[in-house]
Amino acid sequence: MAQRGGFSSRLGFVLAAAGSAVGLGNIWKFPFEVGQGGGAAFVAMYVLFCFILAFPVMVTEIAIGRKTQLNAAGAYTALGFKKWRIVGILGIACGTLILSYYNVVAGWAFGYFVEIITGNFDIGNQFGAFTKDVLTVGGYATVFMLTTTFIVSRGVSGGIEKAAKILMPSLIAMILGLVIYAMTLPNAMKGVEFYLVPDFSKINLSVIRSALGQAFFSLSLGMGAIITYGSYVNKNENIVASAAFITLADVGIAFLAGLMLFPFVFSQGLDTNGGPGLIFITLPGVFESLGGNLGVIIGGAFFLLLSFAALTSTISLLEVPVSYVVDEYKIQRKKAVWIIALIIFVIGLPSLMANGYSESLTKFITYVGADSPTDFMTFIGHIANDTFLPLGGILITIFAAYVWKKENLNKELEAGYPNFKGSFAEKYVDLGVRIICPLILSILLIMSVLETFFG
Ligand code: PFF
Repeated sequence: MAQRGGFSSRLGFVLAAAGSAVGLGNIWKFPFEVGQGGGAAFVAMYVLFCFILAFPVMVTEIAIGRKTQLNAAGAYTALGFKKWRIVGILGIACGTLILSYYNVVAGWAFGYFVEIITGNFDIGNQFGAFTKDVLTVGGYATVFMLTTTFIVSRGVSGGIEKAAKILMPSLIAMILGLVIYAMTLPNAMKGVEFYLVPDFSKINLSVIRSALGQAFFSLSLGMGAIITYGSYVNKNENIVASAAFITLADVGIAFLAGLMLFPFVFSQGLDTNGGPGLIFITLPGVFESLGGNLGVIIGGAFFLLLSFAALTSTISLLEVPVSYVVDEYKIQRKKAVWIIALIIFVIGLPSLMANGYSESLTKFITYVGADSPTDFMTFIGHIANDTFLPLGGILITIFAAYVWKKENLNKELEAGYPNFKGSFAEKYVDLGVRIICPLILSILLIMSVLETFFG
């Protein structure tokens, strides 16, 4: 255990896990999904999914990790169910895939920070040219991956925890400042209205699938990241309370991100349906309209916020395969970190080229019934986030309820929470893990996959 390292305090764990959860998913993806999915109707569904479907999975993942003090695959073996290891391996593979493209978008965020603080507001109009320029975006992606790798190589308490303790409070301060500022803009309330008044006619299966995928992706669930972080937590911590805090922090920051973004968008009379480009295409013009220095400060703060949020998530994504290799193959941590990061960077090259540079990767696949093709990076995102993460959630809850068994899960949850037995939390988690998650997740997943691939 001493060699594996661990979080030095409860705050350290909670901040690191909240850092994993809060990321591009909250600030980049959530607002554009809201824009495409009918505003508040999507928000309502996402919040519901987070608390009803995702929260029990989060509790279970932390419990499995802490019980075994092992990585996402080794944990199943340690509990005596070697066959279930495959769920962990699948999760590790999924995390690797997510990091490979996530780092590309993180590189864009960091690149935009550099462009905006040097006064280049026109970058919004050049988004296509920017993402197409593989050398430039590749450079930014390299810087991002190197930073992530450096932090992870310093270990759990000396790297991951320390970074979270600096990055998370700065992130919260920046987002609060930006929300307050956004509220003062003309037409801000129109944006708030779009964001908070639901139009339920916009909801269809693919919107439901996105909201579900978003809940899992946003909370870093279904692939073992939280099992891995849970494995560095000590026995006297209250898992249920920590999971509740992490979920609230994640939903809260996503909520604030929308509250900041839609007033920005409406203040300029822009389209909310901007998709993945919503932030990168729309916002620089908004910042420019603020005028000179103010635009540089507000715009710089925004893209720095986005970069910080992404960094605490890339750290957790990298830690998943790293802890697997360190635990299972006894490879020295530093060495493992650098080799794995290099491999993931290489796996990410097609995603880097799928945004204009390579025609075939940019127009990779056309879904049944869609009128335009989807690029390779978005395609990978759909498979990993919207399919494999909920699938991981189904398998993890089935495992905990019916294989490892509820009594054992409860025993682990009682450590650090002596009054757990008989509490509302026990009933809530129990119902979620045994019935609601496996059942509802399966139905939603099957229906939405059928719709996506067969129209
Ligand atoms: N939760 C992160 C976000 O919302 O950006 C993404 C993520 C991180 C997903 C870590 C999965 C994971 F294991």
